[in-house]
Amino acid sequence: MLIDRRKFAAVSAAGIMRGFAANDRIQVGVIGTGARSQELMQALHAQPGVEIAAVADAYTGRVQRTLERYGKKLRVMATHTQLLEDKSLDAVIVATPDHWHKDIVIRAVKAGKDVYCEKPLTFRSSEGMEIVRAAAEAKRIVQVGSQGISTASQQKAKEMIRGGKLGRVTMIRAAYNRNTASGAWIYPIPPDASPKTVNWDLFQGPAPKRQFNLERFFRWRCYEDYSGGIATDLFVHLCTTIHYLMDAKAPSRVMGMGQLYRWTKSRDVPDTLNAILEYPEGFTVNLSSTFNNQFAADSSFQFLGTEGTITLGDGMTFHPENAMEDNRWIVESWPEKLEREYYQNPKVREAELPATWKARLRPAVEQFRQVGVDSTHTHIANWLDAIRTRKPVYEDALTGHRAAACAHMVNLSVKQKRAVEWDFQKEDIRS
Ligand SMILES: NC(=O)c1ccc[n+]([C@@H]2O[C@H](COP(=O)([O-])OP(=O)(O)OC[C@H]3O[C@@H](n4cnc5c(N)ncnc54)[C@H](O)[C@@H]3O)[C@@H](O)[C@H]2O)c1
Repeated sequence: MLIDRRKFAAVSAAGIMRGFAANDRIQVGVIGTGARSQELMQALHAQPGVEIAAVADAYTGRVQRTLERYGKKLRVMATHTQLLEDKSLDAVIVATPDHWHKDIVIRAVKAGKDVYCEKPLTFRSSEGMEIVRAAAEAKRIVQVGSQGISTASQQKAKEMIRGGKLGRVTMIRAAYNRNTASGAWIYPIPPDASPKTVNWDLFQGPAPKRQFNLERFFRWRCYEDYSGGIATDLFVHLCTTIHYLMDAKAPSRVMGMGQLYRWTKSRDVPDTLNAILEYPEGFTVNLSSTFNNQFAADSSFQFLGTEGTITLGDGMTFHPENAMEDNRWIVESWPEKLEREYYQNPKVREAELPATWKARLRPAVEQFRQVGVDSTHTHIANWLDAIRTRKPVYEDALTGHRAAACAHMVNLSVKQKRAVEWDFQKEDIRS
């Protein structure tokens, strides 16, 4: 039996309950239909029992492309406010630039919608707990869009770390390096963009008011009015994965250094960023990114343990440690007799002589790769499943808040030239 959706939405808006019959199609509204959103909609469209029902965007070209892909039946709303008033929608995707996320997510959960919000969940760290509380009060599902943790390779890596296969992991290194204009977010601007096709006021929203500017509209990541640059765009993915694999909440202390060396005309955020994050669980993280060289592959992501290393990139690889003791260069500086006696000791021979190393060499590299499964599809499927079952999602609001907060800590440290600390009670940056 199909549920009377209107009646049901009214009940759920009152915060009582919501459920879906097996044959009920989840009605999704999409706020922001830009580059990422097109990927999300493709993933959504591939899932059973769901319908892209309504869209809102600040540039007509994006809406047009969505209609070209998903048909003219889609309801086009002028603004996100109008879309959120549509009681027939069960859930929304929020894929606007970052400065809009908090307002739209909070309004959405208050309107009784479940939410998929792109990363970073927040634009400022202080917004995080506001969202967490609003979602909990409204009993709404919020999935945050760092889709990497939905991959089987990251889940496998987590299992290995938990099971002790890496020994003690005390150091993690991760980097994103690029050397192209598109990598540095200088995207082409569509030729039909103008005040007629772009709703500048809708885009600006809570950001400082500026003159109409197409660079700002289409390359918003380059400006701190709308984005936290490299930290919120890229580091947030790394931190989500680190927290997931290491069962960690947040770093207790963060130090960052950022510089704008090269792309000076196109932005006010750094093109080179380095950060050290120290975790109370007993490990330290080095994050780095440059937009001025791509020699180091952008997939370098290493979990370094006393017994082995996991690298993530195209799948997951485990490299066993084959650490061998070797004190020869020291002992050779001793008197000859002492050197001879040292190597007569069976314990030393066992530990240090190459002949015995071989026997102790560990098994070779292990690789894990899942072919043909796209993480965005899995992450979206997990969200839809949670909407139906009310079971927790992979990346809820608190998890998304903590990952985004790492990025905000890095940026604050860069600005204030000091180490920034996390307050675990407040779940926010220590003031
Ligand atoms: N998970 C990932 O791998 C991933 C990848 C890329 C982007 N993202 C995230 O997705 C979000 C969107 O990024 P993008 O690359 O698609 O940017 P984009 O500029 O291509 O798209 C953003 C769209 O939002 C629209 N918009 C702005 N304000 C709006 C409003 N108030 N109401 C409705 N629409 C509005 C713009 O017109 C634009 O079409 C960002 O938060 C970004 O960090 C995530």
